[in-house]
Amino acid sequence: MAEPAAALPSTPSFIQLHQRDPVAVREELLAGLMAPAPFAAPKFLYDALGSRLFDAITELPEYYPTRTEAGIFAAHRDEMAAQVPTGGVLVDLGAGNCAKAARLFDALRPARYVAVDISVDYLRDALGRLQQQHPALPMLGVGLDFSASLALPPQALAPTAQGHNPPPVLFYPGSSIGNFSPPEALRFLRQAHALATGAAQDGAGAGRGGLLIGVDRVKPAGVLEPAYDDPLGVTAAFNRNLLLNINRLAGTDFRPADWDHVAFWNASESRIEMHLQARQQLTVRWENGERRFEPGARIHTEHSYKWQMADFDALLRAAGFRQTRAWTDAEGWFAVFWAQA
Ligand code: AVI
Repeated sequence: MAEPAAALPSTPSFIQLHQRDPVAVREELLAGLMAPAPFAAPKFLYDALGSRLFDAITELPEYYPTRTEAGIFAAHRDEMAAQVPTGGVLVDLGAGNCAKAARLFDALRPARYVAVDISVDYLRDALGRLQQQHPALPMLGVGLDFSASLALPPQALAPTAQGHNPPPVLFYPGSSIGNFSPPEALRFLRQAHALATGAAQDGAGAGRGGLLIGVDRVKPAGVLEPAYDDPLGVTAAFNRNLLLNINRLAGTDFRPADWDHVAFWNASESRIEMHLQARQQLTVRWENGERRFEPGARIHTEHSYKWQMADFDALLRAAGFRQTRAWTDAEGWFAVFWAQA
């Protein structure tokens, strides 16, 4: 008897939508440096070294979000699988090494896996490896700056080869939503809701899905502050490395050793703030420009908002999601929400 034909390993497809415009990037960075309260957008923390430093942060004992979220997924896998539609298109926002989404494949049995990150170059190796392990699962890598707009290419949510319309299951783990201000988070969630209803796809008509999202919760400053100012200085290096990236992108002459890493809990705004603080009076120069910083002057580099459960639930509903379910850890430090579109 003839052997059944083995499934041919497919290869992932890639689409790069976001094109970095070096002139616009330089202008954006210099405008931030010249602002009355100088700032740099947190996306500039993630050059190649910054991404590695962030991976190292996630292994620090003080940085609880990554392991706490992983524990929630492990403990509540079956309950989550009962809520989240199986056989959907799993859209992994900020996929990176794709590891967190891959752990859901068995439970959610997606019909397609769409990994989204700012550059497909970050996705190629991981998606290639994952495809070897799951040869029958169609995979698409999309290079998109979804903090600007969550518009996927039509292939992402198109009907499957079998003619099914799989519901979009958006996956946004890691509490990255906390790096948006509340109005930005609402705007992002509205776009996520439109995508999860299939409304954002030009006539593709995918069924209703939802959003599975990791959210960091308000907790005592004694837990929060060491997570963002660790004794090994990894977060400090992550923050200072931003200056090297700005030098590369904007032609400035920052010296990281001139700047202190500052991170503190701002209870009234419900956020950790990260800044770089000038150690002495100094001047940063670039072609046709400069800025003087007095001792103690700061450049704001990141906000990490922490949410109360009820407030985040209200935010999801304001964005249009109809039903929510949440799981949390024993200490109540972190939450994973399923929000049905
Ligand atoms: C990516 N994001 C969720 C991290 C956070 O916790 O806000 C970034 C980070 N910044 C300092 N440490 C980690």
